[in-house]
Amino acid sequence: TILVLDFGSQTSHLILRRLRSLNVYAEMLPCTTKLADLDWTPAGIVLSGGPSSVYDEGAPRVDPAIFDLGVPILGICYGCQLLAWLINDKNVARGEAREYGETDLTIHNVGGADGADRLFEGLGDTLHVFMSHFDKLVHLPEGFVTIASTKNTAYAGIAHQSKPIFGIQLHPEISHTNRGTDILANFAIKICKAQPNWEMGNFTEKEIVRIRKLVGDKAQVIGAVSGGVDSTVAARLMKEAIGDRFHAILVDTGLMRLNECQEVKKTLQEHLGINLTIVDGAELFFSRLAGVVEPEAKRKIIGETFIDLFEKEAIRIEEEAKETPRAGKVEWFLQGTLYADLIESLSFKGPSATIKSHHNVGGLPARMMNGQAQLKLIEPLRELFKDEVRAFGRQLGIHEDLVMRHPFPGPGIAIRILGEVTREHVEMVRKADHIFISMIKEAGIYNEMSQAYAALDTNRAVGVMGDSRVYGMICILRAVTSVDFMSAEPFEFPFQLLKNICRRIVNEVDGITRVVYDCTSKPPGTIELE
Ligand code: XMP
Repeated sequence: TILVLDFGSQTSHLILRRLRSLNVYAEMLPCTTKLADLDWTPAGIVLSGGPSSVYDEGAPRVDPAIFDLGVPILGICYGCQLLAWLINDKNVARGEAREYGETDLTIHNVGGADGADRLFEGLGDTLHVFMSHFDKLVHLPEGFVTIASTKNTAYAGIAHQSKPIFGIQLHPEISHTNRGTDILANFAIKICKAQPNWEMGNFTEKEIVRIRKLVGDKAQVIGAVSGGVDSTVAARLMKEAIGDRFHAILVDTGLMRLNECQEVKKTLQEHLGINLTIVDGAELFFSRLAGVVEPEAKRKIIGETFIDLFEKEAIRIEEEAKETPRAGKVEWFLQGTLYADLIESLSFKGPSATIKSHHNVGGLPARMMNGQAQLKLIEPLRELFKDEVRAFGRQLGIHEDLVMRHPFPGPGIAIRILGEVTREHVEMVRKADHIFISMIKEAGIYNEMSQAYAALDTNRAVGVMGDSRVYGMICILRAVTSVDFMSAEPFEFPFQLLKNICRRIVNEVDGITRVVYDCTSKPPGTIELE
């Protein structure tokens, strides 16, 4: 395993992805990690880039123990500057100009097969690479040689003459860097000798063993499921690891899509054999949402109501457990958090800027952990990316339709209604959404987009139906493609299909007289409307 220490760069997670694409297993931890706390020894360590300047007060540092391990180290951008700074703080300063974008890198031939230039072995004399930095090395740290340079950066690549320590100013993880993955392959496979044998299969076994060890043979685990791929995969894994000591809870908020609740029940209970309880909360959600139009207020009410119902159910399960002699207390709370959720919601008090905080990493566990329930959090998918979770889901025998399902937000249809959330409005969205998604599926393009939905603007637009004027609401259609949901592009529909969809919605959904298609990219728009 390669250890990637994260200094907060927006592309740190891509280092993991590239390594895993080479079948080399890598884990990323915050730069504040103490090596003594790890229960494994890395084959090599990568220090990521980051937004700080090494000479600033409070700039993130690294546990000096990394140098005592004797394993190869690769510093990227900030990581490279940090290596140089730790050797001598006069080595790094602010450059005259920011170097941003693509540039040509000259590779220096400094030594034979096992020499300091092994990092670029087999990559020729020049590479087209991506750089993004202000600070740069002004001197070569003692004991190092230059292995690469660009027009602006004399020390774009450095290596220690006798130890396996490397630093590069360029970002090999970014696709604009020519042969960046080969640079990482040289480091991980040739220099660190990490075995390229990682597959999802190993992950399943490893994770089941880890869960069993963590939870022990008595404690029980509860978790919320939504019918989405993440929570379903997490639940299926728990079932595999601890059987019926895992309790899945589905809170029916009344804000889910057409037939969704019944479908989730069928999949989880009947197909996957998961111990599932459905809590019918629709009444409570609608009464608390009455008259509320402000988006953040909606989210807050929904979050709190969700926790109230969930907690009540957790207590009931706990009470029931007392009557079952073999089962222990409910001690754990399962979350299907993915790696991307963590970077969006700030996984550690580190240097990375918070982008947003609304995702499922937020409210629920905080209260479950600090409230009377005192549950510990278990997140078996936290190391994975969406495509990996999907591969994992298939391996666990989850149906393809579910594996490829578009994400659906926790607050559900409520944040797809501009205006008050009433049963009537939800019903209109359900119908429109059902038509939209069915027609997308019939056209065979569902998997070409990352997320699609229908929403409702409760303002009224005029229309003509028959011979009379009518005032109806506006249906907003949104469909996007996205790699990581942090940015997105509107999906380019064939226009005729879009027109057919609009016609059916206006004809079949009472109260809707107009349909519009949202062509906004993210940023500046978000994927959801509220
Ligand atoms: P935005 O609207 O922020 O959405 O561009 C990005 C992705 O996150 C989903 N999303 C949420 N998921 N709770 C969730 O579980 C939420 O409150 C929430 N808000 C947005 C959204 O559907 C998209 O996939």
